[in-house]
Amino acid sequence: MKISLPVLLVLAVLAGGLAVVLTGGRSGGGVRVDVKLPSLSAAADRGRHLFADNCQACHGPHGAGSDSGPPLIHKIYKPNHHGDQAFHLAVQRGVRAHHWNFGNMEPVPDLGRGEVGHIIRYVRELQRANGIG
Ligand code: HEC
Repeated sequence: MKISLPVLLVLAVLAGGLAVVLTGGRSGGGVRVDVKLPSLSAAADRGRHLFADNCQACHGPHGAGSDSGPPLIHKIYKPNHHGDQAFHLAVQRGVRAHHWNFGNMEPVPDLGRGEVGHIIRYVRELQRANGIG
């Protein structure tokens, strides 16, 4: 079957319109920020590895955000708004969606308090290097 170019164009426009309807007009849905990478303390560098293994899938590389979770290098998460305890609680108990539309965060089991401490150190050093905090 031979499909003419105008017909293809009409189909492409229709498919694009359908995609907008299905996604609510959000392209990809994620929120991403540019994260400047500082040189890290040893503790933060341990946190970097733990973050990559446990948090990055949703919070993106270096906490820059992804399609599945918000950026943590963001003024919402600066220390006087989400203190270190908020990070420990998020990991232990999960988070009910309230700031964004990504859905809930499930608890991340198997991380000790010390390990979460390293992750927090990493996030705080990134935040500071990016003018947050
Ligand atoms: C499966 C996806 C996912 C993973 C994995 C994940 N998070 Fe989250 N996280 C989320 C989402 C989504 C939110 C935003 C909830 C909202 O709408 O406020 C969130 C929110 C948070 C918050 C904010 C808590 C608050 O009180 O508002 C912190 C802190 C956090 N995450 C830290 C972490 C850390 C640290 C890790 C790794 C140990 C991690 N997250 C792993 C999805 C994830």
